[in-house]
Amino acid sequence: MYPLIRKVLFQFDPEKIHDFTIGSLKHMGQAPLSWLYKSRVPNKEVEVMGIKFPNPVGLAAGLDKNGECINAFTGMGFGFVEVGTVTPKPQPGNEKLRIFRLPEANAIINRMGFNNKGVDYLVEQVRKANFDGVVGINIGKNKVTPEDKAKDDYIFCMRKVYDVASYITINISSPNTPGLRSLQYGEALNELLSEIKAEQAKLAEQYGKYVPVAVKIAPDLTIEEIESIAECLVANNIDGVIATNTTLDRDKVDHLEHGNEMGGLSGKPVTDKSTEVIRLLAKALDGKMPIIGVGGIHSVADAKAKMEAGASLVQLYTGFIYEGPDLVRDIVKSL
Ligand SMILES: Cc1cc2nc3c(=O)[nH]c(=O)nc-3n(C[C@H](O)[C@H](O)[C@H](O)COP(=O)(O)O)c2cc1C
Repeated sequence: MYPLIRKVLFQFDPEKIHDFTIGSLKHMGQAPLSWLYKSRVPNKEVEVMGIKFPNPVGLAAGLDKNGECINAFTGMGFGFVEVGTVTPKPQPGNEKLRIFRLPEANAIINRMGFNNKGVDYLVEQVRKANFDGVVGINIGKNKVTPEDKAKDDYIFCMRKVYDVASYITINISSPNTPGLRSLQYGEALNELLSEIKAEQAKLAEQYGKYVPVAVKIAPDLTIEEIESIAECLVANNIDGVIATNTTLDRDKVDHLEHGNEMGGLSGKPVTDKSTEVIRLLAKALDGKMPIIGVGGIHSVADAKAKMEAGASLVQLYTGFIYEGPDLVRDIVKSL
């Protein structure tokens, strides 16, 4: 059924279809989708970062940026949903057109630039969803915030989302916010993470509960950079790491229509690259922290490769767009 739906959806502009789908799912709730999809997904509970996940397959950040469809996506069988990236203030993101499909490569290039309705709106949506599953909230910085003030934006969002999040993701790996990726290195990373940890301790005391913090990293890193990030994450007692975001590498697509659009490339061309980052990370972390694997999972075999490389959970974005909700069920069944 989904290949047919995809054929129709792919006739239209990607962002228009995205907005239309989110708009429809927002009002649908969980019941009809649960009946169609979730009822066929077995329970495969796993505990990661101290959280019990009903199954290890999650929706990756960026699809439900404003947290408007948590119940609908859970109804499709996802064991958890990561909403965001959200920023302190609402912002429009980059100029349109900013999402491109590369169907010959099962890929997408996007340069959305954290378009979102702001953290207050997202928190309101999460509260309204009255959701008792696992919801991660992915936070970032506003475009207008200077790089040396980035941590203020993360702390601001942490305070706002802490009470409603199952876990919080610190996104320092989107290629579409100038300067964001520089937070992945050296003293900038150490300073950011130590402030985030200190804030987490304060908020844990204030709310009487511990909400884990994960850091999301890019696939475009050298071995030395991965080792140095791993060391910094461990030194700062971070609870988990999400690998990876989209890539700037165009090697596998530069011959295709839209293959050289600016932005982050996701989907099949990033599968192996992201699995390799997970493998190197797992080696460097030596079991000290769980890894959430994401990047080009389009099949059961892709998900298994991420797990074998060291991931405890996986997330889907582009594979879900290309393969539909049955991919979630197939992966959960196989793991
Ligand atoms: C259109 C689009 C928007 C995205 N927006 C975000 C975002 O806001 N925050 C984030 O952390 N990742 C974002 N991502 C990255 C995905 O969460 C994921 O890490 C990446 O696409 C690799 O996984 P995939 O190959 O399964 O898509 C976005 C990806 C796409 C395709």
